[in-house]
Amino acid sequence: TDGVLVDRYGRVARDLRVSLTDKCNLRCTYCMPAEGLPWLAGPQLLSDDEIVRLVRVAVERLGVTEVRFTGGEPLIRPGVVGIVAAVAALTPRPRISLTTNGLGLDRLAPALRAAGLDRVNVSLDTLDAGRFARLTRRDRLADVLAGLAGAAAAGLTPVKINSVLMRGVNDDEAPALLRFALAHGYELRFIEQMPLDAQHGWDRAAMVTADEILATLRAGAGPDTEAGLRPEAGPPTAADPHTGAGLPRTGFDLTPDPAERGAAPAETWLVDGGPARVGVIGSVTRPFCGDCDRTRLTADGQVRACLFATEESDLRGALRAGADDDELARRWRAAMWGKRAGHGIDDPTFLQPARPMSAIGG
Ligand code: GTP
Ligand code: 5AD
Ligand code: SF4
Repeated sequence: TDGVLVDRYGRVARDLRVSLTDKCNLRCTYCMPAEGLPWLAGPQLLSDDEIVRLVRVAVERLGVTEVRFTGGEPLIRPGVVGIVAAVAALTPRPRISLTTNGLGLDRLAPALRAAGLDRVNVSLDTLDAGRFARLTRRDRLADVLAGLAGAAAAGLTPVKINSVLMRGVNDDEAPALLRFALAHGYELRFIEQMPLDAQHGWDRAAMVTADEILATLRAGAGPDTEAGLRPEAGPPTAADPHTGAGLPRTGFDLTPDPAERGAAPAETWLVDGGPARVGVIGSVTRPFCGDCDRTRLTADGQVRACLFATEESDLRGALRAGADDDELARRWRAAMWGKRAGHGIDDPTFLQPARPMSAIGG
């Protein structure tokens, strides 16, 4: 390597998140408007070869050891399987993961696995079909559940689930989501909503906090009758494979996970003594910026030192102007040196980045 991606605070970026597209086939209300967004134009997007070239520079010359593909929705990029295969062929081979909404995962999981994908994280905020349709503006819950099952069957494990909880929308479903995850062997993580929505509608006071999430799980009450998920009262029976009904539902015993957290956004707890775990990604109330090991590449070839960065570094321009690997690596290192200490959400001067979540890659 020519030197790692180190910033002025001494943090080293080993984990590269690559957005394969800004488009999505869902329309989650907390992410984008019903009509979608002005998508990047074809020529702005990196080609498959350009993506692989930049990932190669990061892996061969900059010490990146983990590569995660994101979106928008990464599975709608036609070349996704080939990109995974090319990245898996790099030396040293990075660990490769992908964050998806689950649509089409059922069909693609075997090919992705064969190409070298190690694991997936799937977004799922509710188990109620009507709620899902309102939240994502698409009636596709069954496809996501099939995607989860397909990923597990293909060995893309551990399969993790990401749930963003919203007050009055799905915050009553936390225990039901956990029962579901436990019943299937998925690792669930609840996420504090961040100010990254295209509509700029984030409201700190409305955000469900990590503390609230933990309290709700410990209380376990989860009044999810409205969603039709709460099993009949009575002694636990064999676990229902769909809802997890039958597992203890009086409240979960959560104890700190002794496993090393490292730079992971999720803080994890053992559920009822383990080995099953549940995570909380408390970006706002429990920030983990001090341990951040991330660098990001957008679908149009811009390096972002942080999810909340206001500046980007144009690697696509350099690459298309004929820059060699040395020059690309130098620019990437320069971009990371300028990374700020933290996201600054609590600063009075905080400004949401111009790009929404869907165009950054989460
Ligand atoms: P694992 O390696 O499986 O732990 O993945 P991950 O949790 O890092 O990635 P994933 O794509 O599943 O993201 C889950 C949530 O964490 C999303 O809401 C992301 O936006 C958020 N997230 C990921 N990386 C960062 C980060 O560097 N900073 C902040 N604040 N949030 C992040
Ligand atoms: N804050 C936190 N998480 C978000 N996601 C999308 N928008 C936000 C937001 N504003 C989640 C998605 C997905 C993951 C990549 O990020 O639900 O699970
Ligand atoms: Fe698509 Fe993810 Fe945004 Fe939902 S949160 S609209 S799945 S990019």
